[in-house]
Amino acid sequence: MDKMKAAIIGAGKQGEVHARTLNEIPYVDIVAICDLNETRAGEMAQKYNIKEVYTDHKEMLNKSDCDFVAIVTPDHLHAQVTIDCTNAKKHILIEKPFATTREDIHAMLEAIERNKVRAMVDLHNRWSPPFSTAKRAIENGEIGDIRSGYIRLNDNKSVATDMLSWSANSSILWFLGSHSLDAISWLVNSRVEKVYSVARDGVLKKLGVDTIDMYQTTLEYENGCIVQMENGWITPNGNTAIIDFKCNVLGSEGMININTSSHDLIQISTEKKTMSPDILAKPIVENKMAGFSSNSIRSFVDRLIDGKPFLVSVEEAANSCLALIAILESANKGKAVKVDY
Ligand SMILES: NC(=O)c1ccc[n+]([C@@H]2O[C@H](COP(=O)([O-])OP(=O)(O)OC[C@H]3O[C@@H](n4cnc5c(N)ncnc54)[C@H](O)[C@@H]3O)[C@@H](O)[C@H]2O)c1
Repeated sequence: MDKMKAAIIGAGKQGEVHARTLNEIPYVDIVAICDLNETRAGEMAQKYNIKEVYTDHKEMLNKSDCDFVAIVTPDHLHAQVTIDCTNAKKHILIEKPFATTREDIHAMLEAIERNKVRAMVDLHNRWSPPFSTAKRAIENGEIGDIRSGYIRLNDNKSVATDMLSWSANSSILWFLGSHSLDAISWLVNSRVEKVYSVARDGVLKKLGVDTIDMYQTTLEYENGCIVQMENGWITPNGNTAIIDFKCNVLGSEGMININTSSHDLIQISTEKKTMSPDILAKPIVENKMAGFSSNSIRSFVDRLIDGKPFLVSVEEAANSCLALIAILESANKGKAVKVDY
């Protein structure tokens, strides 16, 4: 079998997850990498044996012979790169969130459709074992009809203050709300109809980052389910895990509880603190990425090869973003907002 030829746009932290994963797939060759920051792209190229290095994605698309592109630019910078990749007839794997404005969402959907390329958004919690097990139990009818849900996905402060240089251009809603909204919508198997959200700020602004601290949101689904969703960026840096991720789904005949952040499977204690290290997203086994962060990327490549549907459709990812826009509007206006699909 000929190897699939990959390119990556965005050589930051998540870009490296893509580079390492793709590099570990024997039937993929990463032929090109592009970042506005040439040094960063060059270092990644050297580490993962990538021959072509670019600082302009349009030049890369003109010159490089790749089958697909992983788009790993910051949250608010996915649209133009996506549209240019589709116009170059490349299949695309886009990091979450799909896009952060209504105009971008519709322009990207139109470009994907017009150019007949395949596209997936990396909403990788669908590959997380607790969530995929919950989905199977729900589909098997084990907890009856789903009536309500609760999902809490928070990050500690350091993600907004230290890890992301662009956190003030995004928000916890785009960065993590995109994940939690996708995960819970997948479990309750419906589309959000109406939202009511309350936001608070102040803690991060005091730390010099001009973004909202938290959103508490009530979601009403088209199938009647009610969900409470909490997204915050201010859990303490001393928390045992960077993320704080809990979920509950209540059905007419049962209930599912998920806690992927505070587990009892492994704790590592030093003189300074105790950590429950991540064992689901990016564990390294046999010196390879073995968790759901890489399994979603592997799945994208496998579905390109076998032609079967992606586990996340681009329409679902776009609909989630339209619901997130309604949440932002609701928090701004202080009243319930219907999602405009
Ligand atoms: N799936 C996940 O769980 C997960 C985890 C972390 C980040 N992400 C997502 O991945 C994306 C990137 O996040 P990150 O943490 O890697 O950010 P980052 O800031 O570490 O890296 C982004 C890189 O994109 C580059 N860039 C920006 N515009 C560009 C352009 N037009 N052409 C080429 N390069 C460009 C920047 O120079 C930077 O090096 C975001 O959308 C983020 O939400 C997803």
